[in-house]
Amino acid sequence: MKKIIIMGAGGHGQVVADALIQMDGATPVAFVDENRKLHGKKVMGIPLPGGNSAISTIEHDGIVLALGNNELRKRIFTELSDAGHSFFTVIHPSAIIAPNVIVGDGCMILAGAVINTGTVINDNTIVNTNCTVEHHNVIGPHVHIAPGATLGGEVTVEEEAMIGIGATVLPRITIHNRAVLGGGATAINDIPAGITAAGVPARVKDR
Ligand SMILES: CC(C)(COP(=O)(O)OP(=O)(O)OC[C@H]1O[C@@H](n2cnc3c(N)ncnc32)[C@H](O)[C@@H]1OP(=O)(O)O)[C@@H](O)C(=O)NCCC(=O)NCCS
Repeated sequence: MKKIIIMGAGGHGQVVADALIQMDGATPVAFVDENRKLHGKKVMGIPLPGGNSAISTIEHDGIVLALGNNELRKRIFTELSDAGHSFFTVIHPSAIIAPNVIVGDGCMILAGAVINTGTVINDNTIVNTNCTVEHHNVIGPHVHIAPGATLGGEVTVEEEAMIGIGATVLPRITIHNRAVLGGGATAINDIPAGITAAGVPARVKDR
């Protein structure tokens, strides 16, 4: 049984813990979280001995970064990778993933997600509850696809982009680096790098 540390004990971390508990062959051995009020306590019955520095004191086989913020998740992933740590991909047993789909390290594929044939999901990416990622998508590293989002065929989502809750991306659209597509939005055109777009159809927002 692989022993996995979950970084982040907030709502998302607890959803990831639930998925991990339901997986075969792996178990959450501890949370780590920078919130000092939680140190020495248990969350969902799982020990939380301390902050991120506690990782070195816990026997483990892999880490998953249950942090919704893409920039923070990327930074910590890079730091821990450089220090030689290994990451574990959590896949809820109810997710439906085509056999030829490639899923990178440290990903979180949550309950009810569907990922269809020919898709690639890069490292440290969240495919949240009940998402549909259609065929031949290329999803970059450190991406967050929020609950209920739907991506049509041959969509590209670049590094650190965020697809909001319930958003729709039409086939063959590209969501570029660090772009944000708002909750409920429908992307009918490519979304440029670093831009926030929202609404139906999605339009660039003044920030
Ligand atoms: C689009 C988004 C990023 C904008 O955030 P923001 O820059 O803080 O925007 P604000 O909340 O200040 O709203 C600014 C304006 O945009 C509108 N707006 C905000 N989100 C919107 C959305 N999803 N769709 C349409 N309009 C939206 C607001 O009504 C407001 O309009 P106004 O200027 O006419 O009053 C954010 O609202 C959003 O949708 N985030 C996705 C959250 C999500 O899915 N999280 C997943 C958690 S698992």
